[in-house]
Amino acid sequence: MNFLELVQTRQSVRKYSSKPVENDLVLSCLEAGRLAPSASNSQPWHFIVVDEPELLKKVADATTNGGLPINKFAKQVPVIIVIVIERPKLLTRLAGKLKHKDFEWTDLGIAAEHICLQATELGLGTCMIGWFDEPKIMELLNVPKSKRIGVVITLGYAEENYLQRKKIRKSPEVLYSFNKW
Ligand SMILES: Cc1cc2nc3c(=O)[nH]c(=O)nc-3n(C[C@H](O)[C@H](O)[C@H](O)COP(=O)(O)O)c2cc1C
Repeated sequence: MNFLELVQTRQSVRKYSSKPVENDLVLSCLEAGRLAPSASNSQPWHFIVVDEPELLKKVADATTNGGLPINKFAKQVPVIIVIVIERPKLLTRLAGKLKHKDFEWTDLGIAAEHICLQATELGLGTCMIGWFDEPKIMELLNVPKSKRIGVVITLGYAEENYLQRKKIRKSPEVLYSFNKW
């Protein structure tokens, strides 16, 4: 797969098989996250791998919301990666204040996508989850109250013959421009 093929292949997987994920594959995904770029190379993240069944169930539950039919698939995966945002370096924080930018949230997104792309290349499925009970997951994983959880990623083998949803993306005409807005 060349890079564009990899990007085209990645999709949010919302149906998983019960097959466990090999530990070395999980480690490769984490390595891809570890090598992600970040503002001033602050690396403001910590990856928590949740694979202990009881805890996994509780974390998955914290991504669903009562009656809403959202994120139920999280209960099917053998691994969930929770990305905690760590405090960036002083220089990055100052730059962020001056420029009114939360660089750590940008950094988090890049690291998360590195993880998802590596998983795709390894034949695994992922879905980034932004809708979750943050205080609950922090409590379950002993994350200090001063921190934030940026995103939760489900990781597992997609259900056999999982159908790729048609990729709906804005058209290049809308998205691209050259030399002006
Ligand atoms: C920051 C972020 C948060 C997301 N949160 C959720 C979520 O809570 N539940 C879910 O099912 N999908 C979630 N998604 C997945 C998006 O819905 C998905 O990426 C988008 O529809 C494009 O589809 P694709 O990933 O298959 O290309 C999230 C994606 C991102 C990047």
